[in-house]
Amino acid sequence: MTELATVATSSAVYAPSAEVIARAHVKDWDTLRAYSLEHPLEFWAERARELEWFQEWTQVLDDSNKPFFKWFVGGKINIVHNALDRHMKTWRKNKLAYIWQGEDGSERAISYGELHRMVNQFANVLKSLGVRKGDRVTIYMGRVIELPAAMLACAKIGAIHSVVYGGFSVEALRGRIADSQSRVLITCDGAFVNGKVVELKQIVDDALKPGDLPVEKVIVYRRTGRAIGWVEGRDHWWHELMQDASPICETEVMDAEDPLFILYTSGSTGKPKALLHTHGGYAVYTYTTMRYVFDIQDEDRWWCAADPGWITGHSYIVYAPLMNGATSIIYEGGPAYPAPDRWWSIVEQYGVTILYCAPTAIRGFMRYGDEWPHKHDLSSLRLLGTVGEPINPEAWLWFYKHVGGERCPIMDTWWQTETGGFMITPLPVVPLKPGSATRPFFTIQAEIVDDAGQPVKPNEEGYLTILTPWPGMARTIYGDPDRYIQTYWSRFPGRYFTGDSARVDEDGYFWIIGRVDDVIKVSGYRLGTAEVESALVSHPAVAEAAAIGLPHEVRGNAIHVFVILRSGYEGTPALAEELRQHVGKVLGPIARPERVEFVARLPKTRSGKIMRRVLKARALGLPEGDLSTLEE
Ligand code: PRX
Repeated sequence: MTELATVATSSAVYAPSAEVIARAHVKDWDTLRAYSLEHPLEFWAERARELEWFQEWTQVLDDSNKPFFKWFVGGKINIVHNALDRHMKTWRKNKLAYIWQGEDGSERAISYGELHRMVNQFANVLKSLGVRKGDRVTIYMGRVIELPAAMLACAKIGAIHSVVYGGFSVEALRGRIADSQSRVLITCDGAFVNGKVVELKQIVDDALKPGDLPVEKVIVYRRTGRAIGWVEGRDHWWHELMQDASPICETEVMDAEDPLFILYTSGSTGKPKALLHTHGGYAVYTYTTMRYVFDIQDEDRWWCAADPGWITGHSYIVYAPLMNGATSIIYEGGPAYPAPDRWWSIVEQYGVTILYCAPTAIRGFMRYGDEWPHKHDLSSLRLLGTVGEPINPEAWLWFYKHVGGERCPIMDTWWQTETGGFMITPLPVVPLKPGSATRPFFTIQAEIVDDAGQPVKPNEEGYLTILTPWPGMARTIYGDPDRYIQTYWSRFPGRYFTGDSARVDEDGYFWIIGRVDDVIKVSGYRLGTAEVESALVSHPAVAEAAAIGLPHEVRGNAIHVFVILRSGYEGTPALAEELRQHVGKVLGPIARPERVEFVARLPKTRSGKIMRRVLKARALGLPEGDLSTLEE
């Protein structure tokens, strides 16, 4: 193997070893890719047949009402039947579904059979509370096994889950409950993260306090055992409801296009949008992408270190691993708690074979030094993966060398909440270039275009667009189909616009550059400038605010805000700190700005839109570009 320091350029290529190729589900990428482009519908029909359907579809793709594509039309399925029920007929009933470790070191392991039982019981609990097919249920929990179980229980009876990440706070939770109109909310008394308790139930109580939300029932899973507030008649303990619940529950027969879940994500403007995914296409897409990209095998121990509350967790902690019959690790807490080798001790302890995480975590570990992973036997690992933001070649090489022992290929997977699963990604047999997500997955056609929608030349930067539909695509924005068209399908007619910029090199490898809209990726988390700004103006001192993302060594981007104060307030360091904390309290700690700057004016267009690009250029000392629309 070449000395790493000498190959740390973007042109270095890492070819897979004979061992990696020998065990891969897909050995010949080029042939399958060519077949998939020529016969996309056959390709997906063949993959769909690997799952169990109550009734086969009559049409693979209905594209008669673009961009509202339908997949596996006429098919009857339930994703939970494929994730759980069907394993009850095989030896996998006794295989471990999840191995869980709490931040406090406590451990649990649950087999497919036991998880099936828990999900059935909880599905019956939901039914007894009046939850019916098509109802929305909000889930706001820490990282416990009951979180996937709650999601699966909803899906089992045809209810639509809406998971709100446990790191969000009062206003974020309120907005998402209001939009989804959930009558039932599932939470925990609290969660252990970084040695502290996140008071989830308190946040729920604060969110529901004004009394304007439709939530009638709150189910509380006991994790911390600490004292919490209680509203008689509204609040119920998980364990008490489960006591009398039957472990037998019929799985609802769903139409392939019936909604499975909604998941809120930040966009350019206004409130977060609820992307809607369906039972059929999403099942086929996540099952297949995980199987091929991570080459999942029965003996694997899979660890997707994301939070189940984001799309990465929905797809690759909950649905795809269970459909593939894999054993997954779930770790509750902070990555460096109590010491920077927490993750590596988990890898060693459970013999993790595949580790999938975010570049920001890797950069964080790099800072602690090389010695931490070296304290542990990481030889069980055979594949690595990253997601959520571009990975810089230095972090890629560190991960490759110090965690993967120069033996494990890294699957840099580009995708989005909207896409349901991996879109641009290597497979283990694909030669890798550090920092590149390599090439589109089977059947996917991606293209970089300029402002006029014309394809750009190799190595030229442009907008990343997708030309072809795929089964895992979000079907709409829940309750707002016009916004779905407007956001994704209008800028470049006939194409899905990703919101990202990228370039393609002479080998056809994609290099993702970043968001071109008002979305900021902080530690891989997706936040909208509008959300941060509205959190700021909810403080009595703030008249107006603008948020931008600036490069940050570990987090990828950090939020910087510019604030115009109301008269009578003074821009002191104490007030800046107060505003930082205020955003953390309203929206969640991940949204807390890195820096607050007080200004007298903000650059705006004549129509009154804040020109964030000008703020960013100024902050970075870069040319400010075209200022012709700037107001006087
Ligand atoms: O900017 C891209 C970045 O994350 C965005 C999607 O964010 P979200 O919907 O939260 O989903 C994250 C997990 C799938 C994209 O528009 N992104 C995601 N993966 C990568 C990436 N940027 C570069 N490389 C990646 N592998």
